Amino acid sequence: MGGLIRVGDLRKTYPVRNAWGRKIGSLDAVDGVTLEIAAGETLGVVGESGSGKSTLGRLILGVERPTAGAVEHTGSGEMQIIHQDPFSALNPHRSALASVMEPLTARGASAASAEAAAREALAAVGIDEDAVRKRPRAFSGGQRQRIAIARAIAPRPAFIVCDEPVSALDMSIQAQVTDLLKDLQREFDLTYLFISHDLSVVREIATRTAVMRRGRIVELAPTAELFAAPRHPYTRRLLDAVLLPDPVRARERLAQVAARPAAAEALPDGPLVEVSPDHFVAG
Ligand SMILES: Nc1ncnc2c1ncn2[C@@H]1O[C@H](COP(=O)(O)OP(=O)(O)OP(=O)(O)O)[C@@H](O)[C@H]1O
Ligand SMILES: [Mg+2]
Repeated sequence: MGGLIRVGDLRKTYPVRNAWGRKIGSLDAVDGVTLEIAAGETLGVVGESGSGKSTLGRLILGVERPTAGAVEHTGSGEMQIIHQDPFSALNPHRSALASVMEPLTARGASAASAEAAAREALAAVGIDEDAVRKRPRAFSGGQRQRIAIARAIAPRPAFIVCDEPVSALDMSIQAQVTDLLKDLQREFDLTYLFISHDLSVVREIATRTAVMRRGRIVELAPTAELFAAPRHPYTRRLLDAVLLPDPVRARERLAQVAARPAAAEALPDGPLVEVSPDHFVAG
């Protein structure tokens, strides 16, 4: 498998300002990330809130410029993003069909061809033909996310950043939408960067998983291996929290881990070392 995307020592620093807008410091949201995403794979990215997952996604998409480092796209082709909140992609005043057509007409497609492609994408995500003229509010949360996914796949992208795509959905719906993303990947030859704070979701879909902490990748391994033999203390802690048999307690525990003041604790976050084939751990 060739690398579709190569990221080299990527950095993004944001200014930290006080209440009066004066710069009082800076924050390394992404702090030296190097990785490759292979064509057809799903690279999962997990880590606590604020660890830099979304920033990494935006840098790879090119919607934000890195402070340093490079993102190289070896293939050509369209890129898209799916957000946690489908309303960020859907105009509440427009029909599902109009929302899915919009990125196509914006790229110069005729109304007729955009409509045909949009109807095809909506059918692929399981939205009933009779419902496509309805507005977002007429749909359930899961259906709205399906429409947002249709909008992302309609321009036939090669690569999609899925940023917490199922995190806002009910547990029962999460699995359905995750399965849909898997089916679409096969059908449309997609490559995913799949961001989630929820390791159990990433376990279902990711080929490999990167664990981020404070802007750095601390562990990167094939997903099954990461779960079977985690090496970094931070990964172990996240897994301990998520593998509790009681899901309610697991979520509480995960929230505790995430709330731990990261700056207070020094864990290894140096360059990645390959400890077994394809399994990298920060030294
Ligand atoms: N535009 C911005 N300006 C200033 N700081 C920012 C900006 N975007 C992100 N940050 C900061 O960068 C850090 C990383 O943010 P990011 O949104 O990438 O984290 P995340 O891992 O996606 O978190 P979450 O799980 O909450 O979505 C955070 O401390 C955040 O406050
Ligand atoms: Mg985020």
